[in-house]
Amino acid sequence: VTVRVPLLEQRDASYDIVIGRGLLAELGTRVRRACPARRYALVTDDVVDSLYAGRVLDALRVADLAAERFAFPAGEAHKSRETWARLSDALLGAQLGRDSAVIALGGGVVGDVAGFVAATYLRGIPYVQVPTTLLAMLDSSIGGKTAVDVPSGKNLIGAFHQPCLVVADLEVLRSLPRRELAAGLAEAIKHGVIADAAYFETLEATHARLLGGDLEVLEPVVARSVEIKAEVVAGDEREGGRRAILNFGHTVAHAIEATSQYAILHGDAVAIGMVTEARIAEALGLAPPETSARIARLVTHCGLPRERPLGAGVEALVAAMYHDKKTRDGVVRFSLPRAIGAMRGDARAGWTVAAPLDVVRAALDPRSG
Ligand SMILES: NC(=O)c1ccc[n+]([C@@H]2O[C@H](COP(=O)([O-])OP(=O)(O)OC[C@H]3O[C@@H](n4cnc5c(N)ncnc54)[C@H](O)[C@@H]3O)[C@@H](O)[C@H]2O)c1
Ligand SMILES: [Zn+2]
Repeated sequence: VTVRVPLLEQRDASYDIVIGRGLLAELGTRVRRACPARRYALVTDDVVDSLYAGRVLDALRVADLAAERFAFPAGEAHKSRETWARLSDALLGAQLGRDSAVIALGGGVVGDVAGFVAATYLRGIPYVQVPTTLLAMLDSSIGGKTAVDVPSGKNLIGAFHQPCLVVADLEVLRSLPRRELAAGLAEAIKHGVIADAAYFETLEATHARLLGGDLEVLEPVVARSVEIKAEVVAGDEREGGRRAILNFGHTVAHAIEATSQYAILHGDAVAIGMVTEARIAEALGLAPPETSARIARLVTHCGLPRERPLGAGVEALVAAMYHDKKTRDGVVRFSLPRAIGAMRGDARAGWTVAAPLDVVRAALDPRSG
């Protein structure tokens, strides 16, 4: 399956997302066509390096492309300015010029850091996303948001930089731990809530096979999520408007991640965030009462958490939300559903809603209410 992201602001920057099995073997041909360069920097983390970098380097060599490998330690803690600086210096040390390109091989952490390196290296060079986690395939590799985490919060230093190609080879999911598969399903559930009730029902009907890593059911799920994300970002590349609906669950999620020192998985935090923010939508009378319970059921079936970790206190989370980039004038704003499959908002009223603090507190602490 190939999904094209038509970028309206810059038509010549449109790019393809290719989804299928066994695509790594023919990566060289696609890269040469969509992202020609004299030399390539293959950026990856140490886990993916030992699993797939050799195969990718072979595929590039077969197509006569010159590539060097740059690996950094795996994990969210390394999605940092330090990693960005070290990689940038390593590329400079290897004397890669403006006629080079980056290939990001890995999960969302690799995609975000390598994308940010590409966005800033010699004022910007092209890059290819080769996502290897479910989360990266169906979400983070698309849309051109690149960033690192800093002490003040998640993704606060970064840039918009669109990839020239995304290649998702489902075969690599065979080595992905179940916990990471679940984390990816959190973003798929989000896509169902924000845009497609029938897709949400598909996830309800197939969660066991999805969590079991069954590629037959995972492939159409990746394809549908990619379509939804591509459709949302195509009309709003730099998040001036409707793209904000992709942040459903993420205001709370980013606060949970920041207060946990990034020890909790992004997908786990998103699951908790979706349940909490759906409760906020219900409390504000924007969504029908069953919404959060239905999301909570699917989240649980997918092996994801639904309540904030005991270590994350309500006041610490509220304080962290004030640091999040979606706050304006000291008010915390949320992207909220009006039902499963539809978000609240329009071009005139905007796509986010301010929620009073007592409503946020009650949603984070349902047992005390
Ligand atoms: N840019 C965006 O639009 C966007 C969207 C959503 C999430 N994100 C970001 O994505 C990050 C989360 O990404 P993630 O969940 O992919 O985490 P990750 O990149 O940390 O990958 C998770 C773990 O799986 C390992 N791994 C990767 N591929 C593997 C494979 N095929 N087999 C075995 N192990 C493998 C990695 O080494 C890592 O240890 C967060 O930082 C989040 O903020 C960005
Ligand atoms: Zn996310």
